[in-house]
Amino acid sequence: MVSYKRLNPEDVQFSSAVLSEEPRPVQEEVSVSLCLEPSAVIFKTAVRIVTPQTSQTGVNNTAAASRREVCTLIPEAWRFDCYPERGVVVTKELCEARNCCFIPASSPSSAARPSGRNGIPWCFYPPDFPSYSLVSINDTSLGQRGTLAKEVKTYYPADILTLEVEIRHETDSRLRVRITDPSNSRFEVPISVPTCHQEEALQEQCCTFDLSINAVSLFFLVSLNSTVAPLFYADQFLQFSTSLPSQFIYGLGEHRSTFLHDVHWNTLTMWARDVPPMEQTNLYGAHPFYLAMEEGGNAHGFFLLNSNAMDVVLQPAPALTWRTIGGILDFYVFLGPDPGSVIEQYVEVVGYPAMPIYWALGYHLCRWGYNTSDSAWEVVKNMRNYGIPQDVQWNDIDYMDQFMDFTYDSSKFATLPDMVKDLHAHDQRYVMILDPGISSTQPEGTYWPFDEGLRRQVFIKDAEGRTLIGKVWPGLTAYPDFSDAVTHEWWYDNLKRFHEKVPFDGLWIDMNEPSNFLDGSTNGCPSDSLENPPYTPGVLGGLLRAKTLCATAQQKQSIHYNMHSLYGLMEAKASASALKRIVAKRPFVISRSTFPSQGMYSGHWLGDNRSQWKDLYTSIAGMLTFNLLGIPLVGADICGFSEEPEEELCVRWTQLGAFYPFTRNHNAIDMKPQDPTAFSPLARTAMKQALLLRYSLFPVLYTLFHHAHVHGHTVARPLMFEFPKDVKTYGIDKQFLWGKSLLVTPVLDPGVDYVDGYFPEGLWYDYYTGYSVRSKGEELPLQAPLDKINLHLREGSVIPTQTPNLTLWVSSGQPLHLISALSDDGSATGDLFWDDGESIDTYETNQYTYIIFSVAQNVMTSQVLHNNVEATYITVELASFYGVKEKPSRVLVNSQDASFTYRENQVLTVADLGLNLSQNFTISWM
Ligand code: NOJ
Repeated sequence: MVSYKRLNPEDVQFSSAVLSEEPRPVQEEVSVSLCLEPSAVIFKTAVRIVTPQTSQTGVNNTAAASRREVCTLIPEAWRFDCYPERGVVVTKELCEARNCCFIPASSPSSAARPSGRNGIPWCFYPPDFPSYSLVSINDTSLGQRGTLAKEVKTYYPADILTLEVEIRHETDSRLRVRITDPSNSRFEVPISVPTCHQEEALQEQCCTFDLSINAVSLFFLVSLNSTVAPLFYADQFLQFSTSLPSQFIYGLGEHRSTFLHDVHWNTLTMWARDVPPMEQTNLYGAHPFYLAMEEGGNAHGFFLLNSNAMDVVLQPAPALTWRTIGGILDFYVFLGPDPGSVIEQYVEVVGYPAMPIYWALGYHLCRWGYNTSDSAWEVVKNMRNYGIPQDVQWNDIDYMDQFMDFTYDSSKFATLPDMVKDLHAHDQRYVMILDPGISSTQPEGTYWPFDEGLRRQVFIKDAEGRTLIGKVWPGLTAYPDFSDAVTHEWWYDNLKRFHEKVPFDGLWIDMNEPSNFLDGSTNGCPSDSLENPPYTPGVLGGLLRAKTLCATAQQKQSIHYNMHSLYGLMEAKASASALKRIVAKRPFVISRSTFPSQGMYSGHWLGDNRSQWKDLYTSIAGMLTFNLLGIPLVGADICGFSEEPEEELCVRWTQLGAFYPFTRNHNAIDMKPQDPTAFSPLARTAMKQALLLRYSLFPVLYTLFHHAHVHGHTVARPLMFEFPKDVKTYGIDKQFLWGKSLLVTPVLDPGVDYVDGYFPEGLWYDYYTGYSVRSKGEELPLQAPLDKINLHLREGSVIPTQTPNLTLWVSSGQPLHLISALSDDGSATGDLFWDDGESIDTYETNQYTYIIFSVAQNVMTSQVLHNNVEATYITVELASFYGVKEKPSRVLVNSQDASFTYRENQVLTVADLGLNLSQNFTISWM
């Protein structure tokens, strides 16, 4: 039986036993959990079952017998894999050669999975497996610094016996633990993270010494020494395990999975990879961050700042193992205490997402296989004719001359510049794709990007220092090294030259894992320990170089082995900064590959999904996960990329897609058109309605992005963030919220005209009618005919909406309609951020308006907290109040009598207000 004991911070004592080099006395059937204020359980270090340890180096016969006994005592859920290598059938001999326990698992389903894959490990660490001891520790102004040592090398080459551990209390809710090799410098991820300097700490400007965080840090030290599984720190094998406070674990992108991860022997591999999303596979991005729920609705976060290929193993103890093959162990712990705060704390470290240019939030149309610019243009014109909103038209690689970046096909796409001109004349925008691979086979003097790139030496080199050549759409290609500032300048020059021909507005950066149709390069890759590490995480294809570059390739900042998963981030950074210089507005970049920090430079789409109902459903989990990862501008290809959607699916997808923070319909080559104009009048009208609804909600969405940019809030938000004490919300990924108040319940199944939705306890209002429903925290059936997506307003909220139009440029100038959803006590609050929509850093330079709306005791107040000229152009025309219990006899607007309507469903409406948004006002009723 595993039992848990809660500890108070003062219970965690830093005793001399911890500092001992002797094997620890192992406790019997005890696991400890640490209960801290304000965040509850942080970590549990679990079962260390008693075994008298004779020596750390080996076991004698008696000890071997007792070892066997000890092994059987370890519950299956707590067995930590000692033989994670794939492709090996682990025998007793192999296992015992590692001094590990060998017990074939009892359940038949796991019997077929003896090693390295998902399932109960047959070969697992015994309690006395050699690990590090803390041999010295000193206080620093920020925390502690100590030395970890072990005497025996393990079976992974270049095991490092002495380590330095530094614990920094960076803020009162953030702890950082760095474990490094004091004798050799190792690769560290080159993203800028906030640092706390000793001087600042002393001046109390940066770091605080909070009792709870001090206890966590002590706990961390204790658990390094006595954790659930041994710590590994070999040159190419670093592993750290931790028990988890619950089975509710989120994040750890990019994977195709449910929003809530399965902790039943689930290995999530991270290594950027070009592959259509499928389960159990490393995908385009790598995000070693998780959010964990604790008892009572508290939460904490954990981030491993490491870019090497890694496995993250979840097991039902519940516990988690980080297993990476390079870099250092650089952990952050975020104490929350609630899930939203954890994400704010994470985003504070990796960087706040950029404030998008306003049209980024409009509807985007794209496809691969517009064979001519005229056919793309035709769709744009049809959309206008049908009155369907569209802000942005995109082009895929078809626009290029022989798929070469910075060119366009002068015959098939001859009218491209005219189309872009026409888009601009209609307040619409143009985005085109760029792939990183630069054609390397054009005759010298005919293709400037390659010639100039060679001259400036911007391309990634192979292990021997030659330009590494791979293969992508244009044929053989070289790959720009975006870790080099010289490459950024070359990228800018290329973009600028192309912009003079085709004045694009934003960039779609694809294939940037980076993708390669070959494995490694045209010359293969060397055979060494970088290409064939002692341990290879579960990457698709089994080799690090599978469909990408050689791990030994050389980049300015390090070898590709370390830099691979950073490629998309660095390309996005170069692209955003070039665009900013070229268009002098907020840059719009959408990237396929992503890494922590990405939100500062780009949004993301979820890659090559399929036109299937299941993909419609999984897109919600993808969208929510990227919101947790600080990349709120995210969406899936609406109606699906590959395959052809039935009309019904495309309608339902457009309805859900209208609530993706980034909403783009995109389609693969050779598939029939799937833009709204390609469908029947009924379907087309339903799609138009969904998009108009989105456009009407632009003020809400824009304000949410402001809060993401400034505070690290999520935009598309899981229900559990707003209702963390309601465990029934923890697994919900068929519904989600925009911000705190708009509940979206899409239809995700074919042939239905209703949908069940979960409503957390409280009062909810139908967005369209104002009818209310009071929930005890239950699932309710909702009518959902083909032309409807269910939308509910949470009690206590005020949202600003606008009359929609065909572009956000027009629609964002329309009068506002304020909708207030009153709580039982008649109160509600909401806000609005408003600026010119496109200038850089309007918040940072005070060029914005910020307004708080509040309702209490039959009075709505609009309070302008910050003002600029933009708000003077907007009027508030209409105010609706949902949940006004009695018909008023009078309504006053700024103390003047006003006409109003009141419906029996308790909706009060005051029209023709003509109020200037930039001025405070009141609306009251009696
Ligand atoms: C792969 C991308 O994921 C997809 O969206 C695009 O259409 C193709 N590349 C062609 O560029």
